[in-house]
Amino acid sequence: MKAAFIRRYGGSDVVELGELPEPQAGPGELLVEVHAASVNPVDFKIRDGLLKPIIPFGFPLILGNDLSGTVKAVGAGVTRFRPGDAVFARMDKKRIGAFAEFAVVAEADAALKPANLSHIEAAAVPLAGLTAWQALFEIGGLKAGQKVLIHAGSGGVGSFAIQLARHAGATVATTAGARNAELVRSLGADIVIDYKSQRFEDVVSGQDLVFDTQAGDIQHRSFAVLRRGGVLVSIAGKPDGRLARAWGLNPLLGVLLDFLNRKTLRLAKRNGVRYEYLFMHPSGEQLEQIGRLLAEGSVRPIIDKVFPLAQVREALAHVEAGHATGKVVVEVKPPYHGD
Ligand SMILES: NC(=O)c1ccc[n+]([C@@H]2O[C@H](COP(=O)([O-])OP(=O)(O)OC[C@H]3O[C@@H](n4cnc5c(N)ncnc54)[C@H](OP(=O)(O)O)[C@@H]3O)[C@@H](O)[C@H]2O)c1
Repeated sequence: MKAAFIRRYGGSDVVELGELPEPQAGPGELLVEVHAASVNPVDFKIRDGLLKPIIPFGFPLILGNDLSGTVKAVGAGVTRFRPGDAVFARMDKKRIGAFAEFAVVAEADAALKPANLSHIEAAAVPLAGLTAWQALFEIGGLKAGQKVLIHAGSGGVGSFAIQLARHAGATVATTAGARNAELVRSLGADIVIDYKSQRFEDVVSGQDLVFDTQAGDIQHRSFAVLRRGGVLVSIAGKPDGRLARAWGLNPLLGVLLDFLNRKTLRLAKRNGVRYEYLFMHPSGEQLEQIGRLLAEGSVRPIIDKVFPLAQVREALAHVEAGHATGKVVVEVKPPYHGD
């Protein structure tokens, strides 16, 4: 099958396009014919080798973390899906490989694709949509009437987070560039802060939740806009030691991560708020719930650009440049229009 993969870590030039053996579905797994897969910043971080200390990958490593496609075969014990079903999924972090004609997905990680979405639209959802869901609800406990600040509302994750928070009845503030102000407002942002000309601390305060997609100085400054007892959920920068301990990694790595995050942990304590680093996880169940919102039109994916599989390097470079509006998608199998 055609696939985009790496044989070693490195920059854009290590990404190869070629033929690799088709994977097979084991017990509890689905073999999916991939129609489309989205590009996430984690793809170029994996390519660069940045995740090596926390996830040991083997080579050749097919890139790509989430997908939309058609079930071609099911492994023993699969009960929720049948060949021919259209599904979308965030793949297991240790068994990625969506930039290929076929991929294997655990049954528990997949959900039926909403019928009103094309495969390209559906592929844009799993990783970014689940990240937003888990940050806001699973970790942040966001409720109707609360106030949330979402950094980078125009990004892949932020564009879902605004819609999910708004749908949950929260008051949504977001940072975005002026060119995306209208878009984020249309997604449900009540307060739009131009990140190039305004300081968000001058606009918002007393937030119940800050969703940090940026790390660094933006994260550090964000503690000041939370109410006491509020929560800052971060998906950017380095995980803290808790993640290393939860994943059973080398204890020294946990100590090192806490040391590297010392300013963050200190600020959280000083401001009387909770700090949580989220490394999102696949969940067919949560994806099903997001799927219902997509089906009823309460949430929609924002697509920046679509690239064919042959241009996967360009697709990665486009996301790596850091200015995508919404999601970038790789089309693996264009729809058949017949004659
Ligand atoms: N831990 C996890 O599980 C997890 C999961 C998903 C993502 N992430 C991480 O979260 C980060 C965001 O992911 P993403 O997919 O949303 O990225 P993305 O779509 O590539 O983000 C690009 C967007 O961010 C905006 N932006 C850039 N700098 C900004 C700033 N200072 N203030 C406000 N907006 C800004 C850009 O707007 P302009 O074009 O106007 O600059 C652009 O629209 C990445 O670092 C990614 O690796 C982590």
